Amino acid sequence: MPTSTLICFLFFLVILSNFGTSSASLKVGFYRSTCPSAEAIVRKVVNKAVTQNPGLGAGLIRMHFHDCFVRGCDASILLDSTPGSPAEKENVANNPSLQGYEVIDQAKAELEAQCPQTVSCADIIAFAARDSAFKLGGINYAVQSGRRDGRISLKDDPNTNLPAPFFNLQQLQDNFARKGLTLEEMVTLSGAHSIGVSHCSSFSNRLYSFNATNPQDPSVDPRFANELKAKCPNGIGSGSSSPTVSLDFVTPNRLDNKYYQDVQQSKVLLTSDQSLMTSPSTANMVRNFGRQGGVWAKKFARAMVHMGSIEVLTDSDGCDASILLDSNPENPIEKDNVANNPTLRVYDIIDEPKAELVA
Ligand code: HEM
Ligand SMILES: *[C@@H]1O[C@H](CO)[C@@H](O)[C@H](O)[C@H]1NC(C)=O
Repeated sequence: MPTSTLICFLFFLVILSNFGTSSASLKVGFYRSTCPSAEAIVRKVVNKAVTQNPGLGAGLIRMHFHDCFVRGCDASILLDSTPGSPAEKENVANNPSLQGYEVIDQAKAELEAQCPQTVSCADIIAFAARDSAFKLGGINYAVQSGRRDGRISLKDDPNTNLPAPFFNLQQLQDNFARKGLTLEEMVTLSGAHSIGVSHCSSFSNRLYSFNATNPQDPSVDPRFANELKAKCPNGIGSGSSSPTVSLDFVTPNRLDNKYYQDVQQSKVLLTSDQSLMTSPSTANMVRNFGRQGGVWAKKFARAMVHMGSIEVLTDSDGCDASILLDSNPENPIEKDNVANNPTLRVYDIIDEPKAELVA
């Protein structure tokens, strides 16, 4: 094998092994020449919507999460069901709680008027999540773009990809690890629960039917539990008939580190939130984030960027130099196809500059 082909091959392997977490082909300012006002248009639409209804900002941040964890950040969360094939958005994790669709639609409409068929919906969701974080928390960061939109959206996919509110710490860690995210990123991103609401149905088991010996989860502060019971009467129903409660009772519309103080005081809604205190290392992160809002905000921004790169589709997936890869005994490869072998030649003309470039 010529050395340079080996180098290309190794490079390709690195890309492959990072698949699921890599953002190798996304870049900041992807639309700089094709649609220079793309990000400004999204920000304008988001600012207007979130000013009127801060809940939409929470919805948009959650939408980016639910998009990225299911088939990658590909906007499959936006696809509507077709006859006989219900879509992700119909899953109980999204319907009726996920909100903000109309903000994305509005931004997409304005972008189509300015730059037809240029800006992907997956990128619009990523921009809108960032703009929401800035509007509600003053957290700003550069969003990489260049995602392509997927075409597949299946109702059952969220079941096996999104974490459930009753997950314990190990289950949360495993769920995030499957998407290439670390335990610390899980703890960091859970800070998004410093804004927005939850339906009672997502946590009422902790108030009324915890387990055989304790109808009420002993890890909820008892006074807080009483307040929650007043807002969430037993048997009030599920879905859209279930009332909603702020995830952070201190600053419900401010994306900040108060959530981590709630966690330490056992005044959070979800089992998943409280479970962050169930190991020494994550409890330590919670205490540090609760003390140092600036540190958390920086890590939150970084983790959002990382989350935004999960299993992305990009334009470069087609032109990926896979034609240069060599076969191995178990796995004959493109270049040995009769279409290429022996007729495709001049590999050495690629190898030479590559060798010089690597040098
Ligand atoms: C760690 C695992 C997570 C679990 C188990 C979880 C679960 C939930 C649940 C059950 C709700 C309430 C849904 C309802 O009943 O109305 C919720 C709301 C929310 N989640 Fe998460 N979530 C997790 C992580 C995240 C992440 C990583 C983000 C974003 C970075 C996020 C952002 C939000 C936001 C902003 C809301 C409020 C939505 C609104 O008010 O419209 N969550 N989450
Ligand atoms: C119920 O939960 C409590 C607190 O987590 C625990 O100590 C107890 O063993 C549980 N009981 C059953 C029957 O699982």
